[in-house]
Amino acid sequence: MSTGNDPAFIPEGVDLDRPNAARIYDWFLGGTANWAIDREFGARAVETFPQIKMIAKIGREFLGRGVTYLSRQGIDQFLDLGSGVPTVGNVHEIADSINPGSRCVYVDNEPVAVAHSRVLLERDGDPERHAVVHGDLRDPHDIWRKALATGVLDTERPIGLIMASVLYFVSPEDDPHTVVARYRDLLPSGSYFLTSHLTDDGIPHDDEEASRHEIRKQYLKSSTPFHYRSRAEFTRFFDGYELVEPGVVWAPEWHLDAGASKATRKVVDNPNYSGALVGLGRKP
Ligand SMILES: C[S@@+](CC[C@H](N)C(=O)[O-])C[C@H]1O[C@@H](n2cnc3c(N)ncnc32)[C@H](O)[C@@H]1O
Repeated sequence: MSTGNDPAFIPEGVDLDRPNAARIYDWFLGGTANWAIDREFGARAVETFPQIKMIAKIGREFLGRGVTYLSRQGIDQFLDLGSGVPTVGNVHEIADSINPGSRCVYVDNEPVAVAHSRVLLERDGDPERHAVVHGDLRDPHDIWRKALATGVLDTERPIGLIMASVLYFVSPEDDPHTVVARYRDLLPSGSYFLTSHLTDDGIPHDDEEASRHEIRKQYLKSSTPFHYRSRAEFTRFFDGYELVEPGVVWAPEWHLDAGASKATRKVVDNPNYSGALVGLGRKP
């Protein structure tokens, strides 16, 4: 795949004056769709909070386990909001490995993530089954309209809606609970909602506690500040859904399987070190 370091590959609309979450996250995961400004920010973040790369990896793995679980339940179409720069374990690849012929629409508001997804899908995807949309998930009706316009999703059948490691970028002023509820209302019955979120609720009271707050302050200077939410606030995202067992838990506690990486295994005994709450709900 083309790299972010290639000056010829700067997608339109990219803001290179400020570091951006999609590109920083890509750097945390070892990708190349990032620029010096993102890498410098990432390196500072690692200095402040060395666990951050591990947390990114744990989050990505949860996404993979969630898609695997859903695919085994027969869900074969996905709407992945805040899908990020393609990296190991992309949703359409996992879904296809279980249900060949599965469908997926990726959505992101960062032009680099969209452009890289497009490159990947042009190379490996099937235009009838895979698409990428540039849009802001805070506008559910616009996203829904654009996602359906791709012709990839069938609204007569259940859809796996994913918002992995993204809702914490939605500020309280943008009322994320109402946003999430709008998508729920649009989804056909039998659909699922898979999500994960950073929290400062129930995290270890140790030296890292201050770092978790310091890192948030650093992100306030990026184009993508983030917000911690409590367990109760996170759980409210599942209003109107039936929570799938084991309910709202720490990321490493959710359907852990033999494929878990060292990063995830390392925190199995102290799952709150992951700092990320996760859950899966089914719309009745
Ligand atoms: C931390 S990454 C997570 C990527 C992927 N979901 C995963 O779990 O590996 C967050 C992604 O959400 C995107 N994002 C943030 N706010 C968004 C918004 N309002 N609408 C759409 N995408 C958004 C960012 O650009 C970034 O690509």
